[in-house]
Amino acid sequence: MKSSRLGMGLLAALALAWGCQKKEAGEIRIGEYGSLTGNTATFGQSTHKGVLLAVEEANAAGGVLGKKITLITEDDQSKPEEARTAALKLIRQDKVIALIGEVASSRSLAAAPEAQRAKIPMISSASTNPQVTQVGDFIFRACFIDPFQGGTMARFAFEDLKVRRVAMLVDIKNDYSVGLSQFFEKTFKELGGEIIASESYSEGDIEFRAQLTKIRESKPEAIFVPGYYTEAGLIAKQARELGLAIPLLGGDGWDSTVTLEIGKEAVEGVYFSNHYASDDPSPRIQEFIAKFKKRWEGEVPDAMAVLGYDAANMLLDAIRRAGEPDPIKIRDQLAATKEFAGVTGDMMIDADRNARKPIVILKIEGGKFKFVKSLAPQ
Ligand code: PHE
Repeated sequence: MKSSRLGMGLLAALALAWGCQKKEAGEIRIGEYGSLTGNTATFGQSTHKGVLLAVEEANAAGGVLGKKITLITEDDQSKPEEARTAALKLIRQDKVIALIGEVASSRSLAAAPEAQRAKIPMISSASTNPQVTQVGDFIFRACFIDPFQGGTMARFAFEDLKVRRVAMLVDIKNDYSVGLSQFFEKTFKELGGEIIASESYSEGDIEFRAQLTKIRESKPEAIFVPGYYTEAGLIAKQARELGLAIPLLGGDGWDSTVTLEIGKEAVEGVYFSNHYASDDPSPRIQEFIAKFKKRWEGEVPDAMAVLGYDAANMLLDAIRRAGEPDPIKIRDQLAATKEFAGVTGDMMIDADRNARKPIVILKIEGGKFKFVKSLAPQ
């Protein structure tokens, strides 16, 4: 009796599932473009792991609006022009209803006009340059912006480290790096500090001694290096070789284990701002790390991975609230995101389509990223 009842129950459940599947036919297609290869491959690879985890969880829970989420991912090889092409392919050929991408501001800036033109909502997980969302009303982000990030590091240098004379070394063709250096400078000067030297390099450079020698001559008390991990570790090494034992400061672009692998002892004592701290004991963060490690062979997520997860969930949440997978309605719901509990913190989407949320400062110590402090948005 018992077993036959169970059998009937199972049959009924199957029939129901079948009925549902037929009624709710179709899928929801989301596009993701990112740097799976190229100069900053960890950006795209980490982000993808977070995005995919969010999509798998949603599908395991029955999908969104009763439909399966299909994620289509394109590699842009860390090149802005390829980012644009990838976004176009996802929009035109794959007919995605929303886009997730990119990490690097220069690449989000290259692709965003296509999303805007096609009226397909795009959410950048990690691009912090303010111009990204200024492209238009279909462009959003799941992270804070660089006036906040640059201002935070300037204040940290002035108030916590008590330095007054800072030099900068800027990646001159990188929108993020140039913007972040300007925002740092603005706040640092307002506080009463001085930028006594500003030197530049370009992505892919491996020789920074000439710039660092000039910087040394200006006798700074700290150097701000708003670049990406590919050059950050090398810059630190060469600075130490030249006898510059002063604090180095960076932004979120330093966040990669590659910084530690290249920089080794040279990056010890570096302070940089970031989106999350893996040693933050909050259950929200530790539970996410546990689940991420389980899915991705013990890997501890970096900030890009966590932001990929948050960006994807923010989008899925907007699709749910939109009630149907319609790009315009999804845009409206993204814009109406007033409270979203991300792993990287509680956030709200402001009138400029940027996320208002906290920032953290990390210190490299003993070959690890250590939490120093967290600051609430102003
Ligand atoms: N904020 C950087 C940019 O806008 C990208 C980045 C985000 C890099 C997070 C590392 C970690 O270009």
